[in-house]
Amino acid sequence: MTAASRTTVRDFQKMKAEGTPIAMLTAYDETSARLGELAGVNALLVGDTLGMVIQGHQTTLPVTLDHIIYHAQIVTRVTTVPFIIGDMPFMTYNISPEQAMANAGRLMQESGVGAVKMEGGASLAPTIARIVQAGIPVMGHIGLQPQSVHKYGGMRVQGRDDAEDARRLLADAHAVQDAGAFAMVVEGVPVELGKMITEQVHIPTIGIAAGPHCDGQVQVFHDLLGLFDAFKPRHVRRYIEGAKLFREAIASYVDDVQNHRFPTAEHAFAMKPDVLAALTSMNGADED
Ligand code: KIV
Repeated sequence: MTAASRTTVRDFQKMKAEGTPIAMLTAYDETSARLGELAGVNALLVGDTLGMVIQGHQTTLPVTLDHIIYHAQIVTRVTTVPFIIGDMPFMTYNISPEQAMANAGRLMQESGVGAVKMEGGASLAPTIARIVQAGIPVMGHIGLQPQSVHKYGGMRVQGRDDAEDARRLLADAHAVQDAGAFAMVVEGVPVELGKMITEQVHIPTIGIAAGPHCDGQVQVFHDLLGLFDAFKPRHVRRYIEGAKLFREAIASYVDDVQNHRFPTAEHAFAMKPDVLAALTSMNGADED
């Protein structure tokens, strides 16, 4: 039996062509990456959401390129099948195409990811084109761009209230595709717009809060498992109440320790009888 080989950008194109939905999940460490792979996800995104779910920030803005590289190295090290995408953090690609290319190259070279992802529409197209030209696959990210949270004044669905905004998002999708991106995340747009974008572009759209018509979906590991339970965004389906289950398990552990129920003999290591006898007699001799 041969091991399955790692998913590639070509598989993404094939899946879109065949109408096979793409399941993508975020991953940041050995546990999330290994579980995602075992569960059969097609792609793992080392997202800058790590700023929120791992580092405890309110936004993704404090995440640095070194942080993404550190976590991406773990995810690539412990998996063999899913395609791995590394997120470009805020201000690591916004200054110039040259800055973006140098940082995308570093991310790919130092972590082993198969592609980088960056937020932006038409204005980012020259940067995407430059990076793709250098041989680095780019996943675009249009619609709600969390790195622009302060520009929006909060995390808001885009292209819902104004036809001109919606038209601009369609133009963004075309620009990102024409710049050479192999796929794009479409985040926080109305269902109808998610559908129009998906029908109009020939590269796969990976939706989050963008309705069911995208070519694939991406979810944040902690949201899916109910580990991040401070609040529940509308687009999230919690498959288990992880935080509640974990809290209850940890509380049982605390209770067992405090009431002498853990550890028991089955969790401990007994000394060999002859070693114990020798030690006991040595100990007795010391006391004489
Ligand atoms: O950083 C991230 O995890 C993302 C996904 C939510 C799409 O960009």
